[in-house]
Amino acid sequence: MNPTTRFLDVLHGRRPDTTPVWIMRQAGRYLPEYRELRARHDFLEMCRTPELAAEVTLQPLRRFPLDAAILFSDILIPLAGMGQGLAFHEGEGPRLEPVRTEADLAALDPGRVPEANAFVPAAIRLLKGELAGRAPLIGFAGAPFTLACYAVEGGGSHNFRWVKGMMFEAPELFHRLMETITRALEHYIGAQLAAGVDAFQLFDTWGGILSRPHYEAFALPYARRLLAAVGAAGVPAIYFVLDGAHLLDLVAGAGAPALGLDWRTPLADVRARVGPDRVLQGNLDTAVLYGTPAALRRETAAVIAGAGERHVFNLGHGVWPDAPVDMVARLVDLVHELGRRRDR
Ligand code: CP3
Repeated sequence: MNPTTRFLDVLHGRRPDTTPVWIMRQAGRYLPEYRELRARHDFLEMCRTPELAAEVTLQPLRRFPLDAAILFSDILIPLAGMGQGLAFHEGEGPRLEPVRTEADLAALDPGRVPEANAFVPAAIRLLKGELAGRAPLIGFAGAPFTLACYAVEGGGSHNFRWVKGMMFEAPELFHRLMETITRALEHYIGAQLAAGVDAFQLFDTWGGILSRPHYEAFALPYARRLLAAVGAAGVPAIYFVLDGAHLLDLVAGAGAPALGLDWRTPLADVRARVGPDRVLQGNLDTAVLYGTPAALRRETAAVIAGAGERHVFNLGHGVWPDAPVDMVARLVDLVHELGRRRDR
């Protein structure tokens, strides 16, 4: 593993030799070595065991010349840390005991997070030693609204009936839930910063289900608070809002120096709206990994050409469990080849 500084170069406003690349969900089920370890350990056990979390984090970096590692964990961990029941059932996705009433909310304690989730900073400290400057380490958390979706729905949802219902039936209760989750995240993120993450990504997977006024009233203020805290610690933050094109100006004003974009909007359009200084991360459609090598080359070149100077290459969302590993390998090499500066 050769040391790479490209990712932090871009985030800190320096010019890299070529475009840096990492991939959302780069540690996961598409890798045979992940599936091999996972056959012997439960997913949450892997998250909660610093040695296993560190090992899984490093797996994709051994295979591909990626420009960043992302901590292996899950956005739902701090909900469990506050006392909400959480389980992953095979093939079903996460299941949580829903938080829908005053009494459910009263049972959550953000003060438990530092101790209950101490395995997260422990994994980060292990990784900082093992990476030893080979690649920067990205910490992450779910944004408060996205966590509220899981907390209230009790898992995934098609229409978000319960969480949106709470916003309009009991807005005061909803805001207190958001406050409680934000406090838990302040502990959770603070511990990651203290343990030495080099950059931080806030995942707002469900922010895009809100209209502009609702996002502004119910979600943005809480995300903004967390992004400000990360910035104050001197760590560059990436704010990723899935399906958030209608929110772009609000998202761009949330306080993160870098924006993560999904595949829906060409980066040239985003660049035209946010200006040359913002770091843009993204946004190749994950499905291109299932096409021909020629299509992969063409689409990768188009993303790089549209992004402008300050660009971190990524997929527009996570890599899927059946993604062909050889196409992922090709993609990482292609980004480095096509992004190379011909003194632009
Ligand atoms: O990017 C990485 O490599 C870091 C690890 C990471 C995971 N989850 C590992 C994981 C990250 C950053 C996440 C974030 C996450 N978790 C999000 C936001 C990401 C986004 O893409 O917008 C969300 C919504 C979750 C919640 C969650 N965790 C879901 C919906 C699932 C899928 C359940 C399933 O079985 O398909 C998970 C499980 C999960 N998180 C896996 C991994 C590798 C698979 C677990 C397994 O091995 O069975």
